[in-house]
Amino acid sequence: MKALVLSGGSGTRLRPITHTSAKQLVPVANKPVLFYGLEAIAAAGVTDVGIVVGDTAPLIEAAVGDGSKFGIKVTYIRQLAPLGLAHAVLIAREFLGDDDFVMYLGDNFIVGGITALVEEFKAAGPAAQIMLQQVSDPRSFGVAELDEVTGRVKNLEEKPKHPKSDLVLVGVYLFTAAIHEAVAGLKPSWRGELEITEAIQWLLDNGRTVHSTTITGYWKDTGNVTDMLEVNRLVLEGLEPRLDGTVSDDSEIIGRVVVEEGATVTGSRIVGPAIIGAGSTISGCYIGPFTAIDENCLVDDSEIEYSIVLSDASLRGVRRIEASLIGHHAEVTPAPRVPRAHRLVLGDHSKVQISS
Ligand code: TTP
Repeated sequence: MKALVLSGGSGTRLRPITHTSAKQLVPVANKPVLFYGLEAIAAAGVTDVGIVVGDTAPLIEAAVGDGSKFGIKVTYIRQLAPLGLAHAVLIAREFLGDDDFVMYLGDNFIVGGITALVEEFKAAGPAAQIMLQQVSDPRSFGVAELDEVTGRVKNLEEKPKHPKSDLVLVGVYLFTAAIHEAVAGLKPSWRGELEITEAIQWLLDNGRTVHSTTITGYWKDTGNVTDMLEVNRLVLEGLEPRLDGTVSDDSEIIGRVVVEEGATVTGSRIVGPAIIGAGSTISGCYIGPFTAIDENCLVDDSEIEYSIVLSDASLRGVRRIEASLIGHHAEVTPAPRVPRAHRLVLGDHSKVQISS
């Protein structure tokens, strides 16, 4: 069995972060979201991994390398334009050969891994297997309708205006080589993409078995800031506390906090779960729960919680930042005026003045 990991796409929902970096590399608890997926694939015993890359190919390749650090062997497959999930399967035809494969969306996060799913697929041997999850508003997802009696997948629809159920497709799919025939005949949808839901529908229409597993665990598509922060919160909750950096006596560390080697904390109060990356300097600050500050950041005389700060960013004299995603090299400083809570999505290298 092989794996196909999709790490291209345009990432419009995470702009401006995605103007200069890949959304799959946005860190969750200071580790790129893509790495969690690659680890799950390796844990399921799949080592031959194709990664579909787009314009951000150099960044993904620099981060993942040949895959050896995950115990996998990576082949990069260049997609010239983000023409859809099924298009990614189409261009990976040569890499995939006639093998079964697991397709994993590189910006998706699934707690509990995929090992059980892969085992189930191998044992049952359907043409395809999809994972479903109940959501309150299915309109922005692929939606599955199940037969009320047999529980079998009856029909799939991509981003329907009037969803027939509240079960949506999670970003992990298992396929046999049968999917290639389905993909080969697809026409672009109204949004100009080759839709994987249409390819799976083709399998159904042509009498192939498509199994589904409804998961009750945690799954998020981290394509937008709200979900990204939620995933960050969840991962931080499982943090093993560790103080490898320097923490001054006049600082207070409460709960599950990681201070990486080379980080310095002075005159600050950090309430976990939180992580401070290597080489970062925190002085005179309150760092609240569910905050991940990546490497080489400077946070001085500031308050921040429930946020992600990417590497090399700086915050000086700002309070209070909440529910924010702050890009690489961003600088946040106070503007001379009043109010309180700020919700920010700052692109890499942006410079912003806010009231504080
Ligand atoms: P999406 O989040 O569905 O698409 P997108 O990356 O274009 O994002 P947005 O909607 O914000 O513009 O993609 C899911 C995953 O699949 C993501 O990791 C990007 C990847 N992908 C490809 O590799 N190739 C593609 O053609 C598409 C559409 C997505």
